[in-house]
Amino acid sequence: MSEDKNLENLSDTWLNQGSKPISYFCADQWQYLHLFDKHFSNFSGKILEVGPGTGYLCKHIMKSYPGVEYTILDIKKNIDELKNRYIPKEQAKLIKFIDSNEYTEIFKEKYDLVVSTFCLPETPEYYWKDILDNIKVDNCFIIDDGKWCAYENYRNQWLQNNFESTDETEWIYIITGYEQKGIQLSIGKKK
Ligand SMILES: C[S@@+](CC[C@H](N)C(=O)[O-])C[C@H]1O[C@@H](n2cnc3c(N)ncnc32)[C@H](O)[C@@H]1O
Repeated sequence: MSEDKNLENLSDTWLNQGSKPISYFCADQWQYLHLFDKHFSNFSGKILEVGPGTGYLCKHIMKSYPGVEYTILDIKKNIDELKNRYIPKEQAKLIKFIDSNEYTEIFKEKYDLVVSTFCLPETPEYYWKDILDNIKVDNCFIIDDGKWCAYENYRNQWLQNNFESTDETEWIYIITGYEQKGIQLSIGKKK
């Protein structure tokens, strides 16, 4: 992934993606919803989701866990698509959107949960490192895989340093992603 800083904090791949619709990059797997409910039934509190794609998981969480406070961090193009196309207007009104060029805004809050699926390893290294180093959060629900770069080891270290139980971390073989051999679900629960 590119190390060059750019205003939107996009990796080279994302800078060069052209006009592909955001849905092109999304998995929208029902297993996301099932796994979230399995690990965070009864959840309430403040959620930050990084890179929600079509908002598939966000819509489910907001519907099933009334009262959650939802913040989305994404690139401007996708925030516009989420608001205009994917998330119902009534739901979108309740969400705080943060543009990736203002991502340090997320450090001003403490979150109860950070959610991210197939996003962080697709962002520049300086960006995901800054997020993992500085985010204040009690729990996490992360599905991704970043073996091709420094991401995966860094994320595992972050999990160990910041959460009490990461033992529920599991490999999922039904979700197809970067690698067909299995995608890692990382669950962190508060210390
Ligand atoms: C591969 S898609 C995954 C979408 C969805 N979470 C899923 O699992 O299907 C990557 C997501 O990350 C977002 N994204 C790309 N660069 C980003 C950045 N620098 N900060 C925040 N989100 C970013 C994209 O707009 C998109 O929503």
